Amino acid sequence: MTGIHAGRVAVVTGAGRGLGRAHALALAAEGARVVVNDLGAGPAGQGASADPARLVAEEIRARGGEAVAHGGDIATDEGARSLVATALETYGRLDALVNNAGFLRDRMLVNLGEDDWDAVVRVHLKGHFLPLRHAAAHWRARAKAGSVPEARVVNTTSGAGLLGSVGQANYAAAKAGVVALTLVAAAELARYGVQVNAVAPAARTRMTERVFAEAMAAPEDGGFDAMAPANVSPLVVWLASADATGVTGRVFEAEAGRITVMEGWHPGPTADKRDRWTPGEAGTAVRELLAGARTEGPVYGAEEPGQGL
Ligand SMILES: NC(=O)c1ccc[n+]([C@@H]2O[C@H](COP(=O)([O-])OP(=O)(O)OC[C@H]3O[C@@H](n4cnc5c(N)ncnc54)[C@H](O)[C@@H]3O)[C@@H](O)[C@H]2O)c1
Repeated sequence: MTGIHAGRVAVVTGAGRGLGRAHALALAAEGARVVVNDLGAGPAGQGASADPARLVAEEIRARGGEAVAHGGDIATDEGARSLVATALETYGRLDALVNNAGFLRDRMLVNLGEDDWDAVVRVHLKGHFLPLRHAAAHWRARAKAGSVPEARVVNTTSGAGLLGSVGQANYAAAKAGVVALTLVAAAELARYGVQVNAVAPAARTRMTERVFAEAMAAPEDGGFDAMAPANVSPLVVWLASADATGVTGRVFEAEAGRITVMEGWHPGPTADKRDRWTPGEAGTAVRELLAGARTEGPVYGAEEPGQGL
């Protein structure tokens, strides 16, 4: 196999469907041997099935690539540990981890039950942390043994985590957490040859095809299918490759034919009394500072800018 992943081994979580499947196929097309993880869960995280991961691994092999299926739950320590072990035991190495698995349980905040909070934060945030931790332990050991890897992690965040999203407090909080995890991991793991970035995708999958049916629909005229999940994969494949040297701790939005660097929190206007404020003084200062501050973009789903803040 030739391509920018020739000789490399990649793990993709939640690769039995949607974006993860597209990433796995695209990585394999660039020469990666791929561990296709998927629990085969329902749209709200219910149940399990070995079929989605198995079918994608078969699809890669049918196209002449190399792949192995892994059906574990990546939000458990055993699932994440065995996922990394599958790459090492099957192919003898691990070069890239694409954290992608997850599901939604949307509710307005006042109706959001503890179970729906825990399940969504668990699958996205813990489900990113655990595979990352096990992969990082392997890469650190490799670096300490004198063979510094060109290792890459691509995490999956969301516009919901970057700007907020009405009806998705659990999901938005988890995806914002994925961004912070990305920044910390990039800073901590650079010395071991590991680069860590995050992508906020938008594409037609079972997560979006009904809620945003019109925006997600494929064109009937056979033109560019802007919302096909495969449009997000080239950026993921490049970030996961050795070619991406020097790019780390970044967040990108990827949708259709567009790639955007997302710029995060920056200090804006500031005031310093050099002594303790009274609450009234703090309020006056805040109003003056806000008058000179940039207005933040609207929260997704809010009726007007600032609503819901
Ligand atoms: N589709 C979009 O427009 C969009 C937008 C922003 C972010 N995302 C993110 O992209 C990622 C992929 O979503 P998708 O749209 O392809 O959804 P999808 O439902 O098609 O795919 C997600 C896959 O993750 C698997 N999964 C769920 N829990 C798992 C677990 N514990 N262990 C292993 N696998 C598990 C599911 O079985 C499923 O196959 C998610 O993190 C999602 O939040 C998607």
